Amino acid sequence: MDVLTLWVWIWHPSVYQLETMAKMEVKSSLLDNMIGVGDMVLLEPLNEETFIDNLKKRFDHNEIYTYIGSVVISVNPYRSLPIYSPEKVEDYRNRNFYELSPHIFALSDEAYRSLRDQDKDQCILITGESGAGKTEASKLVMSYVAAVCGKGAEVNQVKEQLLQSNPVLEAFGNAKTVRNDNSSRFGKYMDIEFDFKGDPLGGVISNYLLEKSRVVKQPRGERNFHVFYQLLSGASEELLRKLKLERDFSRYNYLSLDSAKVNGVDDAANFRTVRNAMQIVGFMDHEAESVLEVVAAVLKLGNIEFKPESRVNGLDESKIKDKNELKEICELTSIDQLVLERAFSFRTVEAKQEKVSTTLNVAQAYYARDALAKNLYSRLFSWLVNRINESIKAQTKVRKKVMGVLDIYGFEIFEDNSFEQFIINYCNEKLQQIFIELTLKEEQEEYIREDIEWTHIDYFNNAIICDLIENNTNGILAMLDEECLRPGTVTDETFLEKLNQVCATHQHFESRMSKCSRFLNDTSLPHSCFRIQHYAGKVLYQVEGFVDKNNDLLYRDLSQAMWKAGHALIKSLFPEGNPAKVNLKRPPTAGSQFKASVATLMKNLQTKNPNYIRCIKPNDKKAAHIFNESLVCHQIRYLGLLENVRVRRAGYAFRQAYEPCLERYKMLCKQTWPHWKGPARSGVEVLFNELEIPEEEYSFGRSKIFIRNPRTLFQLEDLRKQRLEDLATLIQKIYRGWKCRTHFLLMKKSQVVISAWYRRYAQQKRYQQIKSSALVIQSYIRGWKARKILRELKHQKRCKEAATTIAAYWHGTQVRREYRKFFRANAGKKIYEFTLQRIVQKYFLEMKNKMPSLSPIDKNWPSRPYLFLDSTHKELKRIFHLWRCKKYRDQFTDQQKLVYEEKLEASELFKDKKALYPSSVGQPFQGAYLEINKNPKYKKLKDAIEEKIIIAEVVNKINRANGKSTSRIFLLTNNNLLLADQKSGQIKSEVPLVDVTKVSMSSQNDGFFAVHLKEGSEAASKGDFLFSSDHLIEMATKLYRTTLSQTKQKLNIEISDEFLVQFRQDKVCVKFIQGSQKNGSVPTCKRKNNRLLEVAVP
Ligand SMILES: Nc1ncnc2c1ncn2[C@@H]1O[C@H](COP(=O)(O)OP(=O)(O)OP(=O)(O)O)[C@@H](O)[C@H]1O
Ligand SMILES: [Mg+2]
Repeated sequence: MDVLTLWVWIWHPSVYQLETMAKMEVKSSLLDNMIGVGDMVLLEPLNEETFIDNLKKRFDHNEIYTYIGSVVISVNPYRSLPIYSPEKVEDYRNRNFYELSPHIFALSDEAYRSLRDQDKDQCILITGESGAGKTEASKLVMSYVAAVCGKGAEVNQVKEQLLQSNPVLEAFGNAKTVRNDNSSRFGKYMDIEFDFKGDPLGGVISNYLLEKSRVVKQPRGERNFHVFYQLLSGASEELLRKLKLERDFSRYNYLSLDSAKVNGVDDAANFRTVRNAMQIVGFMDHEAESVLEVVAAVLKLGNIEFKPESRVNGLDESKIKDKNELKEICELTSIDQLVLERAFSFRTVEAKQEKVSTTLNVAQAYYARDALAKNLYSRLFSWLVNRINESIKAQTKVRKKVMGVLDIYGFEIFEDNSFEQFIINYCNEKLQQIFIELTLKEEQEEYIREDIEWTHIDYFNNAIICDLIENNTNGILAMLDEECLRPGTVTDETFLEKLNQVCATHQHFESRMSKCSRFLNDTSLPHSCFRIQHYAGKVLYQVEGFVDKNNDLLYRDLSQAMWKAGHALIKSLFPEGNPAKVNLKRPPTAGSQFKASVATLMKNLQTKNPNYIRCIKPNDKKAAHIFNESLVCHQIRYLGLLENVRVRRAGYAFRQAYEPCLERYKMLCKQTWPHWKGPARSGVEVLFNELEIPEEEYSFGRSKIFIRNPRTLFQLEDLRKQRLEDLATLIQKIYRGWKCRTHFLLMKKSQVVISAWYRRYAQQKRYQQIKSSALVIQSYIRGWKARKILRELKHQKRCKEAATTIAAYWHGTQVRREYRKFFRANAGKKIYEFTLQRIVQKYFLEMKNKMPSLSPIDKNWPSRPYLFLDSTHKELKRIFHLWRCKKYRDQFTDQQKLVYEEKLEASELFKDKKALYPSSVGQPFQGAYLEINKNPKYKKLKDAIEEKIIIAEVVNKINRANGKSTSRIFLLTNNNLLLADQKSGQIKSEVPLVDVTKVSMSSQNDGFFAVHLKEGSEAASKGDFLFSSDHLIEMATKLYRTTLSQTKQKLNIEISDEFLVQFRQDKVCVKFIQGSQKNGSVPTCKRKNNRLLEVAVP
């Protein structure tokens, strides 16, 4: 648990959870539930038997991984185990190497973390023989790293491309062999590049020596490369037609028939997987198609057959049997058929501007054909690797961290071992060397450096074998090259001879012809063979084909034919075919090329931190659950695993510099905790003494402490974890105590403040309550007292009043009793009447003095003194007025009486009806204005009238024709109405009063009036009269009165501003209008038309 975790643990709210986690961490260890021993270093006793037993025991319990220190041994289970699930990935993620049971994920995690966190480039070296599980292991490492490294769209794409490069390379580079159904027939080293955060950026793949001979020939029970079978099984009919292929494997000579089908392998499905992977990796459609075209061309090349044909010069010449296949190949690859045909028939050798063309015999033609097929395929494979590299290479130029994964063919011992096995085994030899160098040698050297006592362990250093093969002057490869380049006849035998000469004395070289006397009698060695005693065992190599394979010759005619192809990919695969770049120098041999690339690889690996996975194959049958002890024993031996353990055990399993060691464990001892003042080394010494670790368990180096046994380390770790827990608990305890105390103090302080405030508040409230209660009580008492006093006072007052009343009554009773004798029973009425009489008397007496004048028009009347006399007062006023009027009337003579009667009559007739009336009131009615009696002029008239004349007056008679007026004397007698001429006094008209029906006049201030006569009467013959008089009111009144007294009928007097007057037959309307003042105050009369007479009244 680091400091960070510790603090998280302390501070994090979910302490409980972390606590349990921490406990889990403490418990978990490699040692838990161990089957056998997880780390061979812990094996007791250590020998080959126990070693194999331990492996077997673990294998039987599905524990296929076992450690030797940091090296992982992996035993191929040959079945899928549930130990690679995402949960397992999570389990191993960020865990200590020794924390969980051994697993390839633990090694991958360790490598990835030290790459990411300590910036150390890593390499993972996976070794083991064919079928031991190297390729699977490399894929597991890659998938683990892919699972734990960063995420994101871009990163995921890089990961996907890196992972998907595997199916493509496996299809083209893997094949079924007797040892492995998916045997890698090439070496592969892949550098995965990461950025500083540990996110993958890309990768670079290097391939080593493809076993190209497999293209043309496969050993019994083995297959050609997967891709051929996948293409024929999985391609659609259309694609096959396009590639001019048939689905039947037996149609192709290059495909061995006996094991075309592999159990549990679906070639068709794999073809789809490969195409899909190619797409993911970034192959364009046309690129993928080109690749398949090359594959098809290789396949079809095998079907070209040759027949001998004798030439004139007696030499045999080869001819193509059936040109159909050739034609199709040429169509597929766009090569001129003639060019290719010629290339299969002739060989041109160029030397110093000389060209020599020789014909090829049938054997040479076949050789040329196969060489072309092999070259085409192996170059295609290299092109594929380069193409994949192009896709997966890191896009950025930033500094990269690198993790290399090496999956190279394992050590091989076949019945017939040829050049390929020699090369492969050489490579394994080199890998063993680097392993030895880096583990054993480094280990020992470090001990020496650190001045640690070291019991030397003899281990086999295979440098001597490497030297045998690769030595530049007398190494086997150098010999081979020399032989190949040598002029003259060169055969495999001459090569063997040379080896026999040069290597004869070498301890690890054997041959029948060897000059080494030790083996002279060794007849077990066949001819044309040599044997090398490899670190992993003796291998017998057949020299046949060594020279050829090393030369790796392709006739120039063929490479030129290929270069001329219209197929862009094929053209690019044979750059040396370009005639412009003719290079007379021989190309480097296969052996030297391989040696160089192995050397580069070794150099590369040496710069990185190595991690080893050593794969072991449990049986030869590719079967699960079978553990063939002898087979395993053999592998353990040649892998040097036992030696590996011994070195580990003899030395010290763990070492660490003093400072970090002290830093890590100082809490385990009081003297060193929390700070050690002195040098780190003495601190560690004190620490270890204190912990009583047995002295043999550790050793002090110059700068490091060496711990012999991992168990000691585990103990230390356990103690540390326990101590850390204790410390954490302590810190937690103190912190919690401090936190609680601070909290408590704060609470206490707060409590004091709160209680003070509360008390104050409570007291205030209580005081206010008491105060208001006191006030209430006080007011009640005061009220009560006041009411009591009031009651008393009221009582006293009422007593006084009662006494007064009683006294008054009492006095009254007393007085009445005393005076009763002086009153009669009706005295009250009398007094009342008397008083009334007195009042009335007084009223009348006062009225007498206040009487108003006797004038009937005097409105004065004295005011009423008493209300009850109101009606009397009014009656008295009425009586007085009547009396006064009577008095006034009594003074009149008969004459005056008559005048007043007439005036009264006039008033009744005209008051408020005729505007002329008010002016007539003051004028006395004289009646006879014309004194006919006295005037002699009217003597005749006077004589004619016998009756009494009531009116004699001059009036204007209005001429009805023009409105002009003529003066007439108007006379009214008791029975008649007479009109007489004013001048002569002659009577003009006489109308009996009974014939007068109506008098009409206007309402205005004029004197016009019309006298209407009864229709049909004599007088009416001339029509009605229209007059104007100054005394209209008087005349009308008198006419009315006379008519009434004589005829007893009321004369109809019409007052209207428009009335009709009968003129003979016509009726004329007399209309009164408001006239102007210009004619003075005299009204003017004008005839307007037949029907209208207009009177303008000013
Ligand atoms: N961890 C494993 N779990 C299950 N099966 C495995 C495992 N490792 C290997 N195998 C099986 O063993 C077979 C051979 O493994 P692999 O191809 O990795 O061998 P190799 O060491 O690469 O051989 P070669 O050197 O021939 O390439 C695989 O096809 C697989 O069936
Ligand atoms: Mg492999």
